[in-house]
Amino acid sequence: MSRTPFERFDPLLPAEAAEDLLRLCERFGHYGTYDEESIEDDFGEGLAQRHDAALNFVRSGGRFGRKEAIRRLVARTNYFREEYAYERPLIDGIEGFLRFEGFLEAARRLYGAELVEPNIVYANLLVPGQELAVHTDVPEFRGIHRKKDPQWLIVAMHHSGLFDRWRIRIATAVAWFGRPQGGEFVFYPDGAWEQPVALPVKHNTAILLDTDSVFHGVDRVTEAREPMPDLEAGMQLVYDGDGRWHVGRGEQVLARYGWDDLRFSISWKAYCYRDAAEQRRVHEHQEDLSRQQVLDVLIEDLRKRGRVGPRLPADTELALTIIDEYIHYPPPAAEASPS
Ligand SMILES: [Fe+2]
Repeated sequence: MSRTPFERFDPLLPAEAAEDLLRLCERFGHYGTYDEESIEDDFGEGLAQRHDAALNFVRSGGRFGRKEAIRRLVARTNYFREEYAYERPLIDGIEGFLRFEGFLEAARRLYGAELVEPNIVYANLLVPGQELAVHTDVPEFRGIHRKKDPQWLIVAMHHSGLFDRWRIRIATAVAWFGRPQGGEFVFYPDGAWEQPVALPVKHNTAILLDTDSVFHGVDRVTEAREPMPDLEAGMQLVYDGDGRWHVGRGEQVLARYGWDDLRFSISWKAYCYRDAAEQRRVHEHQEDLSRQQVLDVLIEDLRKRGRVGPRLPADTELALTIIDEYIHYPPPAAEASPS
């Protein structure tokens, strides 16, 4: 496999603009955990939205194959996340980042795209002891969307390679601000079975790549002073002023942090279209896929591969077969082939 392209930005912004984004992060002030998004449908009921990534993380113990109680592993990966822009800015001061020309140009180069539509900006915050399980992001296809279809199914669609005609290409940039210990950004530009690249967090730098195709994750943020609390849904990371933060639920404070403890990144996502005709096809929903079409194509392929017989298994079993057959996660570090 040839290397998947990526671009790095170092430095990303003028020093003052980078400081402004740290102040914006403080001003936003409250960050919830990355709760499961709900959808309107029950195909594969009982499976988590990212069942694929969760299953792999718990089975493997993360990139370094660490064995821990499931509750602890879930807390490690239950990081804090909020949107700064969704189709439009949601906080003053993010407009410049949303429309940053450096990202727009790199996105055009990544896919040979004429048209780039920036869409989402969100903040990710990890406290010491947290990490982000290796995964690929949820892609998008005409007619298939994360708000109405299971995320694991959309991820499997992309890895199957059977739906490229309908794929909407998305460029993702990740930018880092602040100076935490650990929390390297790890990605696999040469493929899941090759050695990954680990980028240390460096203030005011960024990378742009196709995170829907390239596996990536975040190594553990150094847990030096005290053990990480059992973080779960409903907790918040809150700015207290004067460079200080705390994690808690309501009035209850579980841990206090300074800026240097926190790993703060800002993600940027944009739709990329080869030309105006492709953009129109997406906007006007021409030849949108339906869920039934997707399942028909996958089931036919699974039958060819001998994974499914003439009689279909129950939905949940079919879902687990789809995940197992199409999404092949990188092995833990010790098992990866030497390069
Ligand atoms: Fe990601």
